[in-house]
Amino acid sequence: MDVLEAIFGRRSIRKFKKDTIPYRVLFDIFEAAVSAPRAGNIPSTWMVLIESDNIKEKLKNACIDQDWIAEAPVIVAVCSDIKRLKQVYGEQSELYSIQNSSAVIQNMLIAAREYDLQGTWIGAFSESDVRKVLSIPKKINVHALIALGKADETPKKIPTVQATDLVYYEKWKASNKASKLIPLSNNPKIQKTIQQARKRSQKTRDKFIKRFGKTIKHFK
Ligand SMILES: Cc1cc2nc3c(=O)[nH]c(=O)nc-3n(C[C@H](O)[C@H](O)[C@H](O)COP(=O)(O)O)c2cc1C
Repeated sequence: MDVLEAIFGRRSIRKFKKDTIPYRVLFDIFEAAVSAPRAGNIPSTWMVLIESDNIKEKLKNACIDQDWIAEAPVIVAVCSDIKRLKQVYGEQSELYSIQNSSAVIQNMLIAAREYDLQGTWIGAFSESDVRKVLSIPKKINVHALIALGKADETPKKIPTVQATDLVYYEKWKASNKASKLIPLSNNPKIQKTIQQARKRSQKTRDKFIKRFGKTIKHFK
């Protein structure tokens, strides 16, 4: 699958098909996860793979009002051990450990698309409850739970965020409000490049809709 197609096709879903995920597929996803960049090349993110219904049920109770979690074929707990990072980076290690885990998670979500799976990032949970359920020691942080599976719903269309709304040019915020956030009007070279990139990205989206549009309406 084209990388942009995988990125544009990723959505958070809360209704899963019952299909189990083969270990071959899961371990490809884990290999992608651990291939993410990490500060100082020091691994700080560990994962726990959960498949059994009784543990999923307990995890559901640790995730405030999110009963759908127990229906996911697989849950991955993304955990962080900051010890080695701390020896090298001191105070910065807190930030680095979160960044390391975020990169791991995003790699997982994108790799899942190769197998027509979706992964949903869950941040709303009681860390101490999740620790208890999974026997995770206190010195280990739980950064996220990821619910993985095949979508059994078409996620609702969400407000589209345009890159140009969120990218400033060279300085924090453009002084000229009329030009929205990027004063590209003064720079024909960049404007042309952005227009070309938009066209390319639209082409990829169109291709994506053609292939998956029946199941994902987000791009219509
Ligand atoms: C840090 C973080 C925490 C999140 N926590 C939850 C959560 O607890 N439950 C949930 O259903 N979605 C959660 N999400 C998913 C977001 O709701 C979702 O990414 C967002 O609405 C955009 O939708 P999309 O992922 O389909 O593009 C979380 C996402 C992130 C990045």
